[in-house]
Amino acid sequence: MDYKLKDTKSQSAFNYKYLLNKIFPYIKPVMGRAILNLAIAIPLGLLDGVVALSLKPYLDFVVNGSPEQTWTFMGHTVQLQAWLAFVIPFGIVGFAVLQGVLKYLSTYLTDWTGNKISNSLKIDLFKKLTSLDSKFYDINSSGLVLSRFLTDPETASKNIINTLKSFISSVFGLLGLVAVLLYNSWVLAIIGVVIMAIAITPVTLIRKKIKKTSNANMVVIGNMTTNFNETFSGNKIMTAYNLQEIQNKKFEKQIHEQFNITISLTKRVGWMSPIMYFVCSIGVALVMALGNHLILTGKMSAGSFASFVTSLLLLYKPTKTLGHDLTLLQTTFVAMSRVFELFDLMPTIKSGNKTLDGLNDSIEFKNVNFEYEKDVPVIKNLNLKVKKNETIALVGNSGGGKSTVVSLLPRFYDVTGGEILFDGVNIKSYDLNSLRDNISFVFQDNFMFTGTIRENIMLGNPNATEDDLQKVLALAHLDEFVSTLENGIDTVLGERGASLSGGQRQRVAIARAMIKNAPIVILDEATSALDNESEAIVQKALDNLMQNKTVFVIAHRLSTISNVDRIAVIHDGELVELGTHTELINIKGGFYKKLYDMQFKPQEEIINSY
Ligand SMILES: Nc1ncnc2c1ncn2[C@@H]1O[C@H](COP(=O)(O)OP(=O)(O)O)[C@@H](O)[C@H]1O
Ligand SMILES: [Mg+2]
Repeated sequence: MDYKLKDTKSQSAFNYKYLLNKIFPYIKPVMGRAILNLAIAIPLGLLDGVVALSLKPYLDFVVNGSPEQTWTFMGHTVQLQAWLAFVIPFGIVGFAVLQGVLKYLSTYLTDWTGNKISNSLKIDLFKKLTSLDSKFYDINSSGLVLSRFLTDPETASKNIINTLKSFISSVFGLLGLVAVLLYNSWVLAIIGVVIMAIAITPVTLIRKKIKKTSNANMVVIGNMTTNFNETFSGNKIMTAYNLQEIQNKKFEKQIHEQFNITISLTKRVGWMSPIMYFVCSIGVALVMALGNHLILTGKMSAGSFASFVTSLLLLYKPTKTLGHDLTLLQTTFVAMSRVFELFDLMPTIKSGNKTLDGLNDSIEFKNVNFEYEKDVPVIKNLNLKVKKNETIALVGNSGGGKSTVVSLLPRFYDVTGGEILFDGVNIKSYDLNSLRDNISFVFQDNFMFTGTIRENIMLGNPNATEDDLQKVLALAHLDEFVSTLENGIDTVLGERGASLSGGQRQRVAIARAMIKNAPIVILDEATSALDNESEAIVQKALDNLMQNKTVFVIAHRLSTISNVDRIAVIHDGELVELGTHTELINIKGGFYKKLYDMQFKPQEEIINSY
């Protein structure tokens, strides 16, 4: 499965059957109101025709009519001219009221159904996003994901109902008016219809252009959003290196790019409306000429003609709307196909169904190979067995693959060769949630969610009691610091924990891991960002966390792993040495000895000895 969104494609934009199949489940729950809404669009569209139609009797009977014409109504003889003169003004007001009520209903139903559909789309899309594996987040820019997530479902779902409604309304408007035309003169009606048909044709020719523009625009918006994100996350670097100018230039360039894309579409699409006007005006002129002839030769009444011309003029509005709707519908389909493209992404990390309930015996890497990108091996044939409650340290060169090795345990990524066994069972057989429930992970840079310190710790175990919380606060050596805060543990953190120091953040993360109390603990450079003093404090916190647990600890500073059971040296993706500190330090010219000497011996001695 290709996870890369960069080349925003919307391949299925013209595959209407696929799109309707996909959107249907979302329309289904609001079907009743959607249909009612579309049904209301019919009389709304037809109303224009009625206005045009009523002009004929008004002109023929009221304006031009003879007073002698009568009509028998419930036994009374009514003078038609007077009666119509009386009724028509009331009719117009009644009409406006009816139209108003229908319009209100229609607007309400459109917003209601549109938002409902859009909400369920967004909820499902969010679920999809949280279900995708690390790889998805590695290879896609946050900006593109964000912009596609925020704009497309909205466009796709809100427009679909709105545009369909408008479309139906226009179609029935056209039908109604054409019927009035037909009623008045079929020859003229045919001319009218042909002209309208010619006027709409260009709209159907531009869908490819719309798709291309919409996709290009999405990419630019994505880049812009990424730019925004980086301005936030990389703010310090930006300031330190005076990169503001570069960021500004980047943004300016993106804005210009977007302008060009929009204008290129306007250039292609913008002439359609004037052309339609032009074609329509020819139609109106032709019909008038012919109509004049018909009236002069007595083949058509003046009322008929007035009604006819009115419908012809009124016809222009739905025609234009129809053109607009068809364009919009294309945009909608493009957005929709992009949304369903996201839905079609499947997590590659599949859950098993065995429940993992603590570790009984061991964790084993068996001939494990791993690569992030095809044919770039990062872990090469790793064999390593770790006993229950053993603490093992991974050391080695930077970029050698230590973080990668431990990220395979909670299945952030799946091995590309070999297997990882927990108690002799391949971890792929375990239920993913239960597997991850058994592992606590403390990273070098620990993410804090918006909220209080308490909330951030409780994420480790939402069911923990206040007692548990106080205990881990003390164990993580956070109690002293927290007591200096005005709001204590209920202090609200800045975004990403910005208001905490690196060491404080790390201790919150350790508390989070402690309260989770998982049998397997992974510490990936959990103290590397600290100064010596805070490191000593955090180290004590870690010793507490590591008691009676199976622990993988990655440490840059070898002083922090003095009390581990065994040490594994990973060099360029290979396990090159494995043993206790004493064993490894005695390997002459060994990797571990070299690392150790670099950190603990004075520089001259190292240089002399190699
Ligand atoms: N998400 C990733 N996508 C692609 N390559 C990666 C990713 N993470 C790490 N790497 C590469 O894998 C190798 C091992 O990285 P890592 O496991 O982080 O090393 P260490 O933790 O030992 O410093 C490096 O060459 C690194 O560039
Ligand atoms: Mg690392």
